[in-house]
Amino acid sequence: MSDKPTFYITTPIYYPSDNLHIGHAYTTVAADTMARYKKMRGYDAYFLTGSDEHGQKIQRRAAAANMQPKEFVDQIIKSFKELWKILQVENDDFIRTTDAHHEKYAQELFQQIYEQGDIYKSEYEGWYCTSCETFFTELQVGEEHVCPDCGKPAELMKEESYFFRMSKYADRWLKFIEENPDFIQPESRRNEMVNFVKQGLEDLCVSRTTFDWGIKVPFDEKHVIYVWFDALINYISALKKDDNSLYEKFWPADVHLVGKDIIRFHTIIWPIMLMAAGLPLPKHVLGHGWVLLGDGKMSKSKGNVVDPVILCDRYGSDAIRYFQKREMQYGQDCTYSEANLALRINNDLANDYGNLLSRTTGMLEKFQEGLVLAPSAGTDFDADLIQLAKDTPAAFAALMDKMEWANALAELWKLVGKANKYIDDVAPWALNKEGKKEELATVLYNMVEVLRMVTVMVAPVMPSLLPKVWAQLGISERDDLASWESLKWGLFPAGTKINRGEPLFPRIDIDAIKAQMEAAAAEAAQEEAAPAEPEPEIEPLAEECVYDDFAKVDLRVVKVLECIKVPKADKLLQFKLEMGGEERTVLSGIAKFYQPEELVGKKLILVANLAPRKIRGIESKGMLLSAAIGDKLQVIEAPDMPTGSRVC
Ligand code: MSP
Repeated sequence: MSDKPTFYITTPIYYPSDNLHIGHAYTTVAADTMARYKKMRGYDAYFLTGSDEHGQKIQRRAAAANMQPKEFVDQIIKSFKELWKILQVENDDFIRTTDAHHEKYAQELFQQIYEQGDIYKSEYEGWYCTSCETFFTELQVGEEHVCPDCGKPAELMKEESYFFRMSKYADRWLKFIEENPDFIQPESRRNEMVNFVKQGLEDLCVSRTTFDWGIKVPFDEKHVIYVWFDALINYISALKKDDNSLYEKFWPADVHLVGKDIIRFHTIIWPIMLMAAGLPLPKHVLGHGWVLLGDGKMSKSKGNVVDPVILCDRYGSDAIRYFQKREMQYGQDCTYSEANLALRINNDLANDYGNLLSRTTGMLEKFQEGLVLAPSAGTDFDADLIQLAKDTPAAFAALMDKMEWANALAELWKLVGKANKYIDDVAPWALNKEGKKEELATVLYNMVEVLRMVTVMVAPVMPSLLPKVWAQLGISERDDLASWESLKWGLFPAGTKINRGEPLFPRIDIDAIKAQMEAAAAEAAQEEAAPAEPEPEIEPLAEECVYDDFAKVDLRVVKVLECIKVPKADKLLQFKLEMGGEERTVLSGIAKFYQPEELVGKKLILVANLAPRKIRGIESKGMLLSAAIGDKLQVIEAPDMPTGSRVC
């Protein structure tokens, strides 16, 4: 068995229903960078990513695409894997929650927690956002009944469910966080989570019965396991593929890298699941910020400017990876635009790094017939440069170890900047003119050596850069000069003949990009003025029912005598209805769709035998029927029928 230290890093597993954009790619590229860096530092690093394939959202999307859920996800997973390849993501495993070993382990864990009494049966009544696959309380969805996270309409749910006794673990969780202050990073997110738990933890609904695309609860097959409870388990089930050896080697994970939107699942629910199961907790959860898409008008279907495949094709995946790591400050959001990307490429890669390479190789060709000569007599400027080159690996590593990628790259670029300044200070062309051959040889050697060291350090961020630079520097066979251990000054072999090549990062015409962006924005503004009808999502059919069930519902034609808005309730209208001589009051949540006066005099359909319900202190006797899809709603009318007629 290897005695190398281990490092296990994971990304969230992605929903196959979404088009992955440059923001999604951030997490996976960051984890890949970290895994590559750790491997370079001598770790036995294991990097897991995958796909989160169950749940109501996927089932609905598949139904809308007229496909079976598995068939639907299979097709999307292919494009995920292709994207990761294009972005040079080298994951050690790709877990799918539909993998048999995952399903088996998720069921085992559910059963174990149930048997010990931390999962119990009850009934869930509350709100659910299918897009986020998250439960919310009345308070959280507010009067508008929208998801507090994504803003989409939440659905009212009432169904038999199993619950996980989270509340029981709140104190233990708080104690754990107190003892492990760096478990949640950055600190601001830790404080948020601690405040959340201090307000009291509710038990979590962990099974669903109104659809079936999920892992069955092993002891009650009418239920499927709640998709988040299922998904979080992937971090361990992936290690239990064949036998227990990967688990023994890599669990607990060193880092779960996640976007800030899903930090609560990873830092509260997941650790409590593990506490309940008696398993060790991961060491760190890092919640990174979001890549914001400017004014949000760009989409994959419009200018394609957020599609990582197109961006990689246009600028190369090294540049995209560099941009992502350099642009987003630790824990903060950043705004993506193609102009920012182009600016970063021009400044950091074409100007700073690219110029250093082309100036170095150019002068070596011009002054020394392409030969790197051994250093001898030097200049007054050498010592500073060499000292910085010697100090940079430790400074860079300290920031990389803390996953402060933007700062780590800024540190590294100080050395690139220093080397460019060094060239200006020593003016090798003047040394050449003056015939100071020894000094010139030393200066050119120093430039090559800085280039080599910078390229080694940046390799986890831009993996395909190093072989290209090695080819230009004439050291393609020398893998030993690419290791972390080789980051010692003076290892570049004197006598090497270089092969000058094309610039690795051609400059980008930023004005052209800006013009493109303005044209895209103008087009988007025009589209907004005449918005295209979005394809509404069709809800899957409800469970089959027998005629007798339907016959129990008494539907009648009613006439609207009065209709007013309910004060302080944005959604509610209050109706006085007449039905065969009888008058009754009914409330309906359709205020968003109608002005009250529009409805007065109309003949509508009422579920007349529904048990009365008090809403905001007013008793509502029945429910008016409407047809609804997406954002559209229309009441059902029977204009020519006498009131009291039965609808059958
Ligand atoms: N399926 C869940 C994760 C389950 S993990 C047990 C999920 N999937 S997702 O596809 O919606 O998101 C995957 C990752 O992409 C998350 O970390 C999310 O934060 C990240 N991002 C999605 N959009 C993003 C940006 N615009 N910027 C940065 N990261 C973003 O959540």
